[in-house]
Amino acid sequence: MTNEFVKLEFEGPLALITVDRPKALNALNQQVFSELDVAISQIIARPDTRALIVTGGGEKAFVAGADIAEMSGYTPAQALALSARGQQVFARLEALAIPTIAAVSGFALGGGLELALACDLIFASEKAKLGVPEVSLAVIPGFGGTQRLTRLLGRSRAKELIFTGDPVDAAKAREIGLVLEVLAPEALLPRCKEVALKIASRGPVAVAQAKRVVEAGADLPLREANELERQAFAVLFGTDDQKEGMRAFLEKRKAAFKNA
Ligand code: CAA
Repeated sequence: MTNEFVKLEFEGPLALITVDRPKALNALNQQVFSELDVAISQIIARPDTRALIVTGGGEKAFVAGADIAEMSGYTPAQALALSARGQQVFARLEALAIPTIAAVSGFALGGGLELALACDLIFASEKAKLGVPEVSLAVIPGFGGTQRLTRLLGRSRAKELIFTGDPVDAAKAREIGLVLEVLAPEALLPRCKEVALKIASRGPVAVAQAKRVVEAGADLPLREANELERQAFAVLFGTDDQKEGMRAFLEKRKAAFKNA
């Protein structure tokens, strides 16, 4: 399969996915989903990758949503299949063992915001506009947006965004906790890389376990979630990296982790 719309690059320990279909503001059609799926598999196949950045190509958009032209004539059965496909690909992205960062500049609307929400952290440029405008098309978010937005922002704020369909600008997105930081457009990718490289310098097994317990624990009662944390904490004491990390601290030197 050609990578027409999804570019995957590796830079040292980092992977960078660019959804690059600027003529349609990077809208997610079936081909984009297939190419995203392949890119995720290629990242999984490179165990030395420590973090992933997801961004959009062109000046105007991160991703402006699902492809409206493609889905406009869909039957309910086709819509079900589209939603299942989008949810499945975003679930694979979310389930990556490595941390993922969405670098959002321009429009992140509908499926585009849902793509960002499937990442662990969202950074935005001053030009970002984020929202879920689906009700203006008389549909609802279908790639996990109603659920991830609600878990991230709480019901009230999520409902406001979903019911009105109005996008928020970057400053508002930061105020409500949708994005972590707002940067000048030219500073967005460098900042995301800086954060990704910092994460990449930490104990890789620990970072992966931290991601796993945060994610799995969010769906569990506190007592069970703490049990997950306890088990992961114990498992890490069986790794070479834990010995190295603590030895390096005591010897006042930088740790050299092996992901083992
Ligand atoms: N699907 C298909 N094509 C899209 C698109 C989308 N989501 N968003 C933009 N495009 C296309 C436009 O049709 C246009 O194509 P042509 O040049 O061939 O006419 C091109 O991208 C440029 O877009 P505009 O001319 O509209 O650019 P603008 O600057 O005037 O407006 C915009 C930008 C406000 C983002 C506007 O394009 C827009 O409202 N896009 C749709 C956003 C949207 O509703 N997204 C949600 C989709 S539904 C969804 O995602 C469902 C789900 O969860 C499963």
